Amino acid sequence: MALVTFSSPDYKDKTVYAVAGSHTQTLLKLALENKVPIAFNCKDGECGTCLVKVSSVDSKPRMSGHLTAKEIGVLKELGKITQKEIDDIAVTDMPATWRLACQFIVRDEDILVEY
Ligand code: FES
Repeated sequence: MALVTFSSPDYKDKTVYAVAGSHTQTLLKLALENKVPIAFNCKDGECGTCLVKVSSVDSKPRMSGHLTAKEIGVLKELGKITQKEIDDIAVTDMPATWRLACQFIVRDEDILVEY
């Protein structure tokens, strides 16, 4: 079980439980199920509307999350990831800060999601 806190300047923070490890539950799906108003459009990693910033809420290191080629392309287009960061992620397995909620699979970790 993971705790996911959604935070936006326009809404009250909301923390929800997520079933981790399903390998299918995206952050966007979790948000919509819990009536968190994250903006979205394509739900397919192409438009970039669901861009979120993900960080850890405790001192544990974050798990890396697989970035798809599609997601990398959109994040590059939005200026939210550099080639150096992409290379570093590939080598060190460090998690990316900016993600697309429709592509990010919830893992067994407590996170803060800014949208
Ligand atoms: S909704 Fe389009 S990239 Fe996520």
